[in-house]
Amino acid sequence: MDRIDKLLSNYGGVSRAEAKNLLKAGRVSVNGTPVRDPAFKAGESDEILLEGKKIITKKYRYFMLNKPAGYISSTEKEPGDDSPNVIDLFKEEGIKGLFPVGRLDKDTTGLLIVTNDGELGHRLTSPGKHVDKTYEAKVKGILTQEHVASFSKGFDFKEFSSAPAVLEILKVNETTEYSVARVTISEGKFHQVKRMFLKVGCEVVELKRISMGNMKLDESLKPGEYRELSEDEVKNI
Ligand code: URA
Repeated sequence: MDRIDKLLSNYGGVSRAEAKNLLKAGRVSVNGTPVRDPAFKAGESDEILLEGKKIITKKYRYFMLNKPAGYISSTEKEPGDDSPNVIDLFKEEGIKGLFPVGRLDKDTTGLLIVTNDGELGHRLTSPGKHVDKTYEAKVKGILTQEHVASFSKGFDFKEFSSAPAVLEILKVNETTEYSVARVTISEGKFHQVKRMFLKVGCEVVELKRISMGNMKLDESLKPGEYRELSEDEVKNI
């Protein structure tokens, strides 16, 4: 249990002073009853409404986002790049400290976990941790079993040698000379998938992450939409 003004400022996206004013103005209710006293105590099991919107007083929150193209997922802005950040999509949640777990390139779409749980973020992205990540890629060129064999051997890059990757060819269009494939990697180096395809002479024109570990992208989410993960999903990440 905590003071209602503290809960509102921790989880409601308002400052402590704003919380006090909103309380005074009768804009806050707890379990259906308006509360005006900033010292009123409430907890996780109470239904707190701030101007009619439910405030979730859980310390850690976990979301699955279908990342849209054009959004950056790094926490550092590139000089001269005014593109929006994926965290901007969560503004109305009013949650402090949200960050994306790992990075996707600006033009990559698909599964991105967003949380304020730093320990989980670290656990999934620390260098020794190999979490399988599967992408669907549309590439320029005709993919063949030779490419599958090359991916299964891994590639040597300037700063590292990639572990074997699984390439599965889904579609080849001989007329337009484009192919669609699914590729699974266990590392997450900068531009890794695009660089692997370049090694075999194919340029990636579309890239979408469809799974990470045993978490699959919920295909009912349109690009830019997100949903909260269930407790079971969080346990199984
Ligand atoms: N590999 C890439 O090249 N880009 C991404 O966004 C993710 C993996």
